[in-house]
Amino acid sequence: MSSAQIASRAIKQLDPEDIDVLRALEKSITRFQSIPLQTLRALTRLDERKLLFRLQRLNAFGFVIKSQSGYTLVSAGLDALALQSLVKRGLISGMGRSIGMGKESDVFEVVTDSGERAVIKFYRIGRISFRATRLKRSYSKPETQHQWLQINIEAAGKEEEGLLKAFDVGVRTPKFIARDRHAVLMSEIDGVMLHLCRKEDISKPSLLLRQILENANKAYVRAKIINGDLSEYNILYDGENPWIIDWPQYVSLDHPNAEEILRRDIANTLSYFKRKFDSRVDEIKAVEFVRGTRATLR
Ligand SMILES: Nc1ncnc2c1ncn2[C@@H]1O[C@H](COP(=O)(O)OP(=O)(O)OP(=O)(O)O)[C@@H](O)[C@H]1O
Ligand SMILES: [Mg+2]
Repeated sequence: MSSAQIASRAIKQLDPEDIDVLRALEKSITRFQSIPLQTLRALTRLDERKLLFRLQRLNAFGFVIKSQSGYTLVSAGLDALALQSLVKRGLISGMGRSIGMGKESDVFEVVTDSGERAVIKFYRIGRISFRATRLKRSYSKPETQHQWLQINIEAAGKEEEGLLKAFDVGVRTPKFIARDRHAVLMSEIDGVMLHLCRKEDISKPSLLLRQILENANKAYVRAKIINGDLSEYNILYDGENPWIIDWPQYVSLDHPNAEEILRRDIANTLSYFKRKFDSRVDEIKAVEFVRGTRATLR
């Protein structure tokens, strides 16, 4: 079971005092790598016996680790806080199946309060090795568990921004519902990752490629952003339309490397269509098409 699923079961057993202690831990992550008991006492106003009892429970749930100098909040603890808050805000009522477990995130189906299905994405940057992350992103190297938590909260905030900007201008992308800490709640796309689509599922590859580039064009021209990680892994296909997902690394057009990032996004996409369908669309023409300086791909 993943840490989010463990957290979703555990939050039903948490008392308000447990949540108070989790919040006090969370408040301290920017100041300490290991939070002293005295700091937690001051923040929670609990006497030592009660506080230790709560910390022991949180440790048993896997939310907190104890070291010599104090306590460290770990990712499952942040999951519990995010889930508890989303439930309290009346946004979700239950966790469903896992639909994507990657290097940098865990994605689950959830049921909203109105009984609809949605998707929640928990950021997990730093879970695997830092090397893999460094190749893809430009974070500076964190030293501690608490710094990783902050990086994940920031990444979720960045994804919120990207999703909203793209959706606003009509890019086919999940509808943002809410963010809590390192978790992003969004609409569920009924589609299959392009990378997993069989050749026979895509009857008109050149049309699909054009639709993808049209979405990139809307993002570029109208929202003035570039996804920054566009590839067959971040495009879902519903049988008629492509959907662009995964925006934490989006950049604005004024980013110093914007043009290089745009070219890379387009090169990745074209390379998939070339490999799979032997499509031959010129990269320069595709770049111009996305920039809006060219009307067709021919
Ligand atoms: N809104 C959504 N609707 C349906 N499925 C989704 C949605 N968001 C994400 N997924 C599924 O979860 C997978 C991972 O999502 P996403 O690409 O956003 O995360 P990631 O951080 O790239 O994960 P990884 O580290 O594996 O690349 C997607 O490939 C897709 O299958
Ligand atoms: Mg992805």
